Amino acid sequence: MVSPLPPQLIVLIGLPGSGKSTFARQWQRSRPDRLLISTDAIRAALFGDEAIQGSWDLIWRDVERQFQQAVQQMQAGQVSAAIYDATNAVRRHRRAVLALARATGFAELVGIWLDVPLPVCLSRNQQRDRSVPDAVIQRMHRRLVGAPPSLAEGFDRLIRYTDFSPLGCPLTLPN
Ligand code: UTP
Ligand code: MG
Repeated sequence: MVSPLPPQLIVLIGLPGSGKSTFARQWQRSRPDRLLISTDAIRAALFGDEAIQGSWDLIWRDVERQFQQAVQQMQAGQVSAAIYDATNAVRRHRRAVLALARATGFAELVGIWLDVPLPVCLSRNQQRDRSVPDAVIQRMHRRLVGAPPSLAEGFDRLIRYTDFSPLGCPLTLPN
């Protein structure tokens, strides 16, 4: 029997419109052994629409539950890795996610920062059905620039993509 790999979690970081969900779908495509944990999907399941912000406590509880389930499935050899698709623009929030992931049993935490220029995010955001107010994206951008992702937050590896051409980033993936 092949022993399961150490449970790995990829943590996405990026502004609304940076392409996190596009990236996550590409990463998972045709790989039933990869798990997608997404706050968009959690909002849709809890509140009926991913655009509804809802209670963060409720969302967080579901993230906790899905992290636990993911680690169990990895230990059972059913799942090879998981990706967490959320904005994670605020350092304090990233630290909380990483602390939760460690406490749950993830052994390797890989950050992937989709560092897409603000004007590109704003323009993509305008062009899609569900758009976030510009002011929200601008505020997140300020927080991301003020406290950018760093290994010191608790990542084992941190990858920063600056190639924001359509589908440019999703093709270069860790493992
Ligand atoms: P996403 O919906 O993937 O962004 O792409 P996101 O980061 O997950 O956004 P939030 O945080 O959930 O709000 C946003 C738009 O940008 C396009 C997608 O097709 C979508 O319409 N996009 C994404 C590109 O044009 N090129 C890319 O490389 C990635
Ligand atoms: Mg998304």
